[in-house]
Amino acid sequence: MPKEDIQLILDTAVSFREVLERPIKKVPPLQGKTIANLFFESSTRTRLSFELAERRLSADVLGFQAAGSSVSKGETLKDTARNIEAMKIDMVVMRHAASGAPHYLSTVIESAVINAGDGGHEHPTQALLDMYTLREKFNKLQDLHICIVGDISHSRVARSNIYGLKTMGAKVSVCGPATLIPRDVERLGVDVYHHIDDVLPKVDALNILRIQLERDAGRLFPSIREYHNYYGITRQRLDKAGGEVVIMHPGPINRDVEISADVADGENSVILQQVLNGVAVRMAVLYLLGTRN
Ligand code: NCD
Repeated sequence: MPKEDIQLILDTAVSFREVLERPIKKVPPLQGKTIANLFFESSTRTRLSFELAERRLSADVLGFQAAGSSVSKGETLKDTARNIEAMKIDMVVMRHAASGAPHYLSTVIESAVINAGDGGHEHPTQALLDMYTLREKFNKLQDLHICIVGDISHSRVARSNIYGLKTMGAKVSVCGPATLIPRDVERLGVDVYHHIDDVLPKVDALNILRIQLERDAGRLFPSIREYHNYYGITRQRLDKAGGEVVIMHPGPINRDVEISADVADGENSVILQQVLNGVAVRMAVLYLLGTRN
């Protein structure tokens, strides 16, 4: 996504962020539009955030979860989607365990498709809300240094953040055990660290990732306790590095694994601001797509 588009989404989100502070948090631009949320993989934040964003723009919302649907009766993704589209919907928001599923869907249906996370590939609206939160905190993205920590290999959040932040002129590094960092990740223009204490003093913000045990990441390091000892972000570690570091996490957090509970709840943490900003950013994406001619 080009810089101008990211800029436009972030700027548009500022006015929706303001709407969220009003007593009546609802505006009319998507009145009469119907949006289907197709979630083929578990989600709490992203699903609720999209749904709230849709309702706050006055769209009609259709929910779908793979469990309990005809997917379990053998219906293909294409057929499921085309049937839902036959009911005259305007946009689809989709999460799927297969990388590329939303892209594929966009080639078989007419409606606009928004990627809400596809396998280990991308999670664009998460990166947008992360960038929004950073911009709110620092008033810029250019020249900030962000380190993404943890399970980079399995993380769609990492990939989308790298692409987005690099496009906006930030410096990005990744840190984690070699087994959780994709080979050749430097080609994406990031620096690689294996010792968190080496990179901590240099960064403006940390984006801390969960170990994706459901994608088998547990095989790639000796134990959770050892991971915490080497890579867990603790108060002590932050104090040793000196300076203030903004703490981000896309959620769900595993307390005392990748992040200690006091850091997650501490004053440098913007984790809940990320969640709030997510609604505004998704409103901006839906609005821009839903009102174009
Ligand atoms: C992430 C996801 O599902 O990609 N969560 C989110 O959307 N906020 C990260 C994760 O599952 O660890």
